[in-house]
Amino acid sequence: MSDIAKPDDSALEKQAIRKITWRLIPFLMLLYFVAFLDRINVGFAALTMNKEVGLTPQMFGLGSGIFFLGYFVFEVPSTIILHKVGARFWIGRVMFTWGLVSIAMAFTRGPISFYLFRFLLGLAEAGFFPGIILYLSYWFPSHHRSTVTAMFMAAAPAAGLIGSPISGALMQLNGLLSLSGWQWLFIAEGLPALVLGLITFHFLSDRPADAVWLTAEERNWLSQAIVQEQAAIKDPRSYSALRALADWKVIALSLAFFGTSVGLYTIGFWAPLIVRGLGFSAMNVGFLVAIPNLIAVIGMVLWSRHSDRTGERYWHAAIACLIGAVGMAVAARAGSSATLAITGLSLTAFGVSAAKPPLWSLPTTFFAATAAAASIGLINSLGTLGGFAGPYMIGSANETGGNFSRGLYLVGGMLIVSALTIVAMRFAHKTCCPRIVKPERCSNMLEVSEKIRASRDQASRSYKIAVIPGDGIGKEVVPEGLRVLEAAAMNYGFNLQLDEFYFASCDYYLKHGKMLPDDWKSQIGRHDAIFFGAVGWPEKVPDHISLWGSLIQFRREFDQYVNLRPVRLMPGVPCPLAGRFPGDIDFFVVRENTEGEYSSIGGRIFPGTDREVVIQETVMTRVGVDRILNFAFNLANRREKRHLTSATKSNGISITMPYWDERVEEISKAFPAVTWDKYHIDILTAHFVLNPDRFDVVVASNLFGDILSDLGPACAGTIGIAPSANINPERRYPSLFEPVHGSAPDIAGKGIANPIGQIWSAAMMLDHLGETEAAAAILKAIEVTLMDKSLCTRDVGGNADTSTAGKAIASALASIRA
Ligand code: NAI
Ligand code: MG
Repeated sequence: MSDIAKPDDSALEKQAIRKITWRLIPFLMLLYFVAFLDRINVGFAALTMNKEVGLTPQMFGLGSGIFFLGYFVFEVPSTIILHKVGARFWIGRVMFTWGLVSIAMAFTRGPISFYLFRFLLGLAEAGFFPGIILYLSYWFPSHHRSTVTAMFMAAAPAAGLIGSPISGALMQLNGLLSLSGWQWLFIAEGLPALVLGLITFHFLSDRPADAVWLTAEERNWLSQAIVQEQAAIKDPRSYSALRALADWKVIALSLAFFGTSVGLYTIGFWAPLIVRGLGFSAMNVGFLVAIPNLIAVIGMVLWSRHSDRTGERYWHAAIACLIGAVGMAVAARAGSSATLAITGLSLTAFGVSAAKPPLWSLPTTFFAATAAAASIGLINSLGTLGGFAGPYMIGSANETGGNFSRGLYLVGGMLIVSALTIVAMRFAHKTCCPRIVKPERCSNMLEVSEKIRASRDQASRSYKIAVIPGDGIGKEVVPEGLRVLEAAAMNYGFNLQLDEFYFASCDYYLKHGKMLPDDWKSQIGRHDAIFFGAVGWPEKVPDHISLWGSLIQFRREFDQYVNLRPVRLMPGVPCPLAGRFPGDIDFFVVRENTEGEYSSIGGRIFPGTDREVVIQETVMTRVGVDRILNFAFNLANRREKRHLTSATKSNGISITMPYWDERVEEISKAFPAVTWDKYHIDILTAHFVLNPDRFDVVVASNLFGDILSDLGPACAGTIGIAPSANINPERRYPSLFEPVHGSAPDIAGKGIANPIGQIWSAAMMLDHLGETEAAAAILKAIEVTLMDKSLCTRDVGGNADTSTAGKAIASALASIRA
């Protein structure tokens, strides 16, 4: 079956990538084209504006560069905002405000207003470029990213290419309606940004899941591919600008970008003036300056495609920088030769443009989520400070030295520094960073993330776990879970940082009057996972308060929308169902954990009267239903049986359940290798008892899943061994792993609780973190231990105490490894 899936997958990939490329890239290019035009048109306006409003070359250089100060201040916050609120709204906002300021440039009166408008322009635009780089990583798997980044970035030289003659021509409007040519230039080139801002609100989709213009199949493939890739990134997911600043990868990339920006903006701002200095008319300057830009556009796309095909980033970036440096030297020595000057400028335009896309493909392979947003924002703002330094350097060198050549040599020097930095990164990375793995060579995305994991440095396999024992036997079984986790870490060579927290317990409530501290989210939100015992002590705190005040908060606030419970009859465990043996029962219940029947929409009116009315609504959203179904189908697809069962009740619940069925039908199309069926919940519970061997993956809405996920483990024996996971598959938040059982006040403090439910949950956690080998070994160790009654607790027929059972599993683990 997997043989069929392979070609399907790559055909699907091609089709999906083609579709999103056509839908997104031309539009994003258009935005960047307009944006860039507004950024560099100042070079053309300068031809007459400088004299009219009295700007010296140094003032002009300073003002051109001041743009980047505004840009710099707001870059990181703006990129993070984009990550939070979505690109559709945020990019639309950027374009709109930018258009406004751009038009205002027409009313420059002197150096002060010039500086002010340039600063505001930078402020308005901040976050646009890094935002798009981040946005592309939501859509394109990494091995496509350099090419699409190049296509997008080609809009910048294209703005120079097509924009230069346009700007040249607009300058000819001089005198119309008593406005100068440069004023017309600003107005005519600012208007499109305004209009495009409005269009963006309607046209862009934030993420693949929102793209109604993709088929369900394409959408699923894409979301899955991106999620898998993000999941393989182990660096912190949320990252402040300050922490990003302390990361050597961010610093090195910033330095590399600095040089390329110096080069890029030198071409953007000064090429017209350099060529003009050779004695050409404004119109001809426009055409001549177009040549380097044309070469840059074509060259960068080809160069980046080569980088994607070979999966190589560093040499592509470094060599391009060196070519840029050579170009600067040629331009500096050109003297009065127009041919040499244009050749030099062309080499530089190509070099600095071609270096960027491979470089931009690196941060999103190191970082995910807010960490990616913060570091991309920071790299771009530190890097583009080069846009401030470059034009200024040449401006000053021009004033002191009387010609451009000193400045050009300086720029060339900066490019050499960039090249050396990139080469240094290459060698540092060889020992500690993942190589790009092309999915074409793997049968599925899971294998890809496995490969990325495998190529990771051993030492980077380090996990931060928030440990919350809770109440009752939670405090007895969690230490046994940690014992086994530590043994697994030692045997399988990864590091664990175990941070214990004592909130989410009834004792905490009695002391503080609440189950959780106000800042609980920041205390545990950055951990890789939460290892949870059980909460509840009805004698001290009513159950609805303890449960809603803690566990339910975790599930909702961390969007743990999958509740996953394995149901497996283990050897040595007496089965409550007659005639069933290990191997007969082995399936997963996948429960929707955040919406459905458990909504808080509803109420009660006329309480206590004859007219008393009580309503509670069921809420199913397409996002909510599709994502749980996708998870379940994916899980089934990875299992041997490849079978999925959907729990429904579409005969009785005639609105939401037929919708659920419809979505199952739709999502199933993306998983041709998985067979599936559906049962009404009533008969399904009977089948759980009578024919448990039928099932492989059972998916259900919140209420049905709740029932099935207790019934399933009960069919497989004691509740003391059943584990569960509350998962946020996108890994935006930590997932939570806990036994199925509660705090068992009836046996708490006696040392007889079975620790296996907790230990099996630890195995699920390791599996989620990518330590699949260690996870499988723990399961094996549980099986081995269950066979020896002297090592089991009394609920499974033994007489061992909790810690004897825990220690037995930890030592079995060591022998499995050997
Ligand atoms: P429970 O699961 O704590 O206990 C049910 C029965 O199973 C008891 O007889 C208990 O002795 C036995 N049992 C449970 N775990 C065992 C283990 N590891 N080894 C041997 N026997 C075990 O459910 P119950 O009694 O309904 O609830 C007790 C408290 O736990 C309540 O406050 C409840 O709200 C809370 N609870 C919390 C959960 C959670 O934190 N996820 C889940 C279920 C209940
Ligand atoms: Mg339940």
